[in-house]
Amino acid sequence: MPTSPRVDDKKKRPALAGADALRYNASPVSKRFYITTAIDYVNGEPHLGHAYEKIVADVIVRVRRALGEPSFFLTGLDEHGQKVQQAAATAGKEPQIYCDELAQTWQAFAGKLCITNDDFVRTTQPRHKQVVQALLQQLHDQGEFYKGEYVGYYSPKQESFLTERDRNPDGTFDALYGEVTQLREENYYFKLKHHQQWLIDYIEANPDFVAPRFRCNEVLGFLKNNELEDLCISRPKNRLAWGIPLPFDADYVTYVWFDALVNYISVPMARGEEAAVWPADVHVIGKDILKFHAVYWPIMLKAAGRALPKQILVHGWWQKDGQKMSKSTGNVVDPVKVIDDWGVDAFRYYVLRELAIGPDGNWTAEGFEARYTAELANGLGNLINRSLSMLGRYRAGVVPARHDELCADAQRAQAALLEQLRGNELQAALISIWSYIARVNQYVDQTQPFKLAKDAAQSQRLDEVLYNLTESCRLIATWIQPFLPDTSQRIFEQLALPADAQSFSGAAWGGLTAGHKIGAPVPLFPRRDKPPVAANS
Ligand code: ME8
Ligand code: MG
Repeated sequence: MPTSPRVDDKKKRPALAGADALRYNASPVSKRFYITTAIDYVNGEPHLGHAYEKIVADVIVRVRRALGEPSFFLTGLDEHGQKVQQAAATAGKEPQIYCDELAQTWQAFAGKLCITNDDFVRTTQPRHKQVVQALLQQLHDQGEFYKGEYVGYYSPKQESFLTERDRNPDGTFDALYGEVTQLREENYYFKLKHHQQWLIDYIEANPDFVAPRFRCNEVLGFLKNNELEDLCISRPKNRLAWGIPLPFDADYVTYVWFDALVNYISVPMARGEEAAVWPADVHVIGKDILKFHAVYWPIMLKAAGRALPKQILVHGWWQKDGQKMSKSTGNVVDPVKVIDDWGVDAFRYYVLRELAIGPDGNWTAEGFEARYTAELANGLGNLINRSLSMLGRYRAGVVPARHDELCADAQRAQAALLEQLRGNELQAALISIWSYIARVNQYVDQTQPFKLAKDAAQSQRLDEVLYNLTESCRLIATWIQPFLPDTSQRIFEQLALPADAQSFSGAAWGGLTAGHKIGAPVPLFPRRDKPPVAANS
């Protein structure tokens, strides 16, 4: 792999044994926060799981930006390998043309989700292929690979070789492997065994390397109870043409996972930003691809003399109505349709509020609608709308003098929120925000500003209440920005405040000044539980 100057360059740090190996992760101070998602196979349309993963990463990076941290967010597409080659063949298209067409759908999808990625990688791009080939050549020169013959079972569907251990007790293979064939072929293998103890020691010394903790334990359990088998990193061209050619043997292409994982570093390198970006701070992935990220990827990097990512953040899988989502049975959630129907923020809110990062989730239309009505329309939407409407009605939209009745509650909520955000506890963070929303809605019920407005003697008290309500709206708009960017912006517009008020540093109580005039209130989340009124009635 071509190297750019860096403090922990391999030449200056040849030995990686003992305590040094465990300090492997040191990174330059000026580094930007770098987050990635898995890159999706372009063998179909994006689904709920893909949407969820991108939104999780997007919220985390938006939080970092709001905290003033420079950042880099990468997502993209995994375009090589058997799955894509087969999907292209089924569609009757050349693989590259098939990928080019679908890539447009996927890029539009990222836009639809309002995610703020800084780059979009496609593994068929020359900038990526160059780095993969350089890495292969480097590891080949270092003697990390050998050529060997494989005789055994192979699953084209999973693109993996199977062993006796993968068989069911009755000798058959699980349906997830599709049709399993017998294969005899020569390939290149990556020696893994001699890295195994290093990886165990590394993960034990860095237990946050894989989060949540139960996933870290899962990786350690696997590593301690199995001897790693060498990884086959090639496919003969006559069986699979759709891949990156091995630089040292023209009869082979690169195994798709060895190609795909490299995207995380190939893009920073191609952009000339490796020193400012690598190592990644967080790789957000789903539970099914943990072994690739927590076993193969660190070993690839270590062998290449590269720093390891700081954390693999593993989310669970979505089901719909308690069942695996599947195109063939029609049991799917179409994120685009939900967003067109309900708005992107309602979609983002539901997936983040319903599911913590870790366990599996279950999408139900009833659950979605219940949260929309209770938490978005009646909770957040109603609070903002009635607060700003009262300021408009009773004070011509002009903010009264500062008053601090809710300040302590707001500060408590914000302290909890920031702590949760730093730990990537996105669901807990939403719960903190919504308990403050409930507190402010309760404050309206307790202080009854609509009654105060009828009594001239209560004018001062009404000013106090209206300040507390309006300032709460401003803080809430700041806090929800990473989660519900569109709604946040709409609240700021209604408050007639600039977009730079969205940084968390502007979220201290009292930022709203007396005499500021707000704009017109507009309902944020129209109630959907009544049948829509006909346009001409
Ligand atoms: O695995 N719920 O791509 P992919 C939640 N190209 N997440 C889900 C999900 C569900 N029902 N279904 C899939 C690949 N995902 C490789 C990755 S990375 C170098 C290469 C998640 O399109 C899945 O866990 O099959 C993975 O993180 C992502 O979607 C892409 O899956
Ligand atoms: Mg998959």
